[in-house]
Formats: sequence, C-alpha cells, structure tokens
Amino acid sequence: MHILVTGGAGFIGSSFIRFMRQRHPDDVLINLDALTYAGNLSNLADVPEEAHYHFVHGSILDHDLVVQLIKKYQIDAIVNFAAESHVDRSIADPLVFVDTNIRGTATLLAAARETRIERFLQVSTDEVYGNIPGTGYVTEAAPLHPSSPYAASKASADLLALADHHTYGLDVVITRCANNYGPYQYPEKLIPLMIQRGLTGQSLPVYGDGLKTRDWLHVLDHCRAIDLVLCHGQSGEIYNVTGNNEHANLEVVRRIIQQLHIDPSLIQHVPDRLGDDSRYALDATKIRDELGWAPTVAFAQGMTDTIAWYQTHRSWWQGLNQG
Ligand SMILES: NC(=O)c1ccc[n+]([C@@H]2O[C@H](COP(=O)([O-])OP(=O)(O)OC[C@H]3O[C@@H](n4cnc5c(N)ncnc54)[C@H](O)[C@@H]3O)[C@@H](O)[C@H]2O)c1
Repeated sequence: MHILVTGGAGFIGSSFIRFMRQRHPDDVLINLDALTYAGNLSNLADVPEEAHYHFVHGSILDHDLVVQLIKKYQIDAIVNFAAESHVDRSIADPLVFVDTNIRGTATLLAAARETRIERFLQVSTDEVYGNIPGTGYVTEAAPLHPSSPYAASKASADLLALADHHTYGLDVVITRCANNYGPYQYPEKLIPLMIQRGLTGQSLPVYGDGLKTRDWLHVLDHCRAIDLVLCHGQSGEIYNVTGNNEHANLEVVRRIIQQLHIDPSLIQHVPDRLGDDSRYALDATKIRDELGWAPTVAFAQGMTDTIAWYQTHRSWWQGLNQG
C-alpha cells in the first residue's frame, strides 16, 4: 500500500512509521506533519528518507497540498494521527483543537473523497466516551459523552468520518485507544513528565488525590492494532483498543519513583484538572474476536523499559519544553 500518515512526527505516529517500515517494508509511507511543538523529526532519526519513506512539512488543513500528495504518491489509504492531543492545552485554548482536530479531519476527508482513496483510518481515543465511573466497560455502541474540549474535538472528528462513510460511501475505519505510553512521548503527558521531572530533581505534580484511574497500553500494541484495522477492519466500523491495564495516577507515579530511586516526598498534590474524568474503561472484545488482536507488552515490563529509555535518552528530552 501507499499510505499518507499524518502527524507522523509525533509520539504514536513516529512509532507507527517505524513499526510499518519493519512490518511492511514494501509499503510506501508519506509522513505529512506540521511540526507543531509536539512534532519532532528526531523521533524518526533512525528512519532514513528513501523510496519507501518521505517526510513532507505541511498541514492537514491545506486541502490543495493533501490532494497533490495523494495524486503524486498514488496514495491508497490515509491514517490520521495529526491532532492537538493534550487535554490541559485544550482547556487553556480550545480553538486550536477545533481547527486541527475537527477542521483538519474534515479537510482530509474531503481530499480523500475527491481523490477516491481506498481507505481512511481515523485514530481516535477512549476519551470520546467520557467518564465511566464504577466497574463497567464500554463497547463501540456506547453513546459519546466527551468531557474536555480535546475529547469533544476528537468525538466531532469521529462523527464527521462516519458521516462521510454514510453519506458518500467513503471507506472509513476508526480506532479508539486507551492511554498510550512508550518512548518518544512528549514530556507534557503523565509518564514522561514524571520521569523527566524525577530525573532532574523537580517536584512531581499529581492532580487532586491521584486516585483517578487511566487505562494504559504500550504504543507498539496500539500500532499493531492500527495495522490490523487498516488491513482487515470492516468498512464503517469502530474498534476499541485496550489491554485493560487500569492504574491510579498515583500508583503510576510511585512506580516511576521506585525505579528511579527518588524521594517520594517529591510528590506534590495540586488542584484537580478542570472537569477531569475519573475513569476510562473500554471493552475491546470486537478487535480481539474479529481481528485476533491482543496486547503483547505487559504493563510492568513496558514501564520498566520505558523508564529506562528516558534515562538513556536524555538528549532527546532535554531540549524540549515541558508545556
Ligand atoms: N497519546 C495517547 O495516549 C493517545 C491515545 C489514544 C488516541 N490518541 C490519538 O492519537 C493521535 C496521535 O497522538 P500522539 O500522542 O502521538 O500526539 P502528539 O501530540 O505526540 O503528535 C501529534 C502530531 O500531529 C502533528 N500535527 C498537529 N497539527 C497538525 C496539522 N495541522 N497538520 C499536520 N500535522 C499536525 C504534530 O506536529 C505532531 O507531530 C492523536 O490523534 C490522538 O488524539 C492518542
């Protein structure tokens, strides 16, 4: 396949490109990225430009550029990672999330329709379902209840993609994944932020009592799921992606403290994030049963490796802003 990967210089997009170069070396990958604060070409320093991989600096909001790239590289499929992805930033400035996540996705969908590409994969999130209190799990049929401006913008993009499938017959698939962790994650998100601050002797700010839970999946398992849905997912379908690894935020921070041998008194409880959800919890039976996906990275090992990666890749994160 010839695939337009948008947002391929970010955390998950760069992991996906690296994964796909190994898994499908004959595919051609075009990485379209605007290089916002979260986009970083050093994430792909080990993926050389060659006949099967090209980087293009540009925005998904640039319709003419997207159409031009689809035609030039005979693109079969678009995998849309490009987004503003940080909930805190969406609370401070929602408009850029509307522009990139909603208008950007709509622009890509229009270009996909006009050029009749074969498949459009929208990379979405468990946050579109909103807060899942208690012990239940949500399937793909659950209603959307996004809480933050980020989640609302992602839910809107999902609905636009599904509307394109329904109205114009565009072949659309959507993945909704739990929180990712792993190498190359911008150090504004919980795990890399705590590791970076811990390694530099700074306080470890934890929202509220730290007892809110998040469901964690290693980024490589997410990439494997996207590859499966891209190749074998049913058109017009949504696939939840999770290994059901729920942990309280405080527990994750304590794990980092333990491995880094740092002082637990560095934990500093700070006022809760506005409107924060207490729990996300997906039911991923569909992708497991229909596509045979299962997570391969155990949380304990994945965390050990991830913490070690940030310890040995200081030069990668030292120049970045914490946000
Ligand atoms: N990180 C997670 O835990 C998680 C979980 C589920 C789903 N997702 C989704 O996966 C996708 C990737 O997330 P991430 O954590 O890698 O994000 P990220 O913030 O690390 O990367 C986003 C990338 O998109 C690029 N970008 C932003 N605006 C653009 C534009 N207008 N045109 C082209 N490129 C643009 C940025 O430069 C950056 O490279 C997002 O759509 C996010 O909603 C993330």
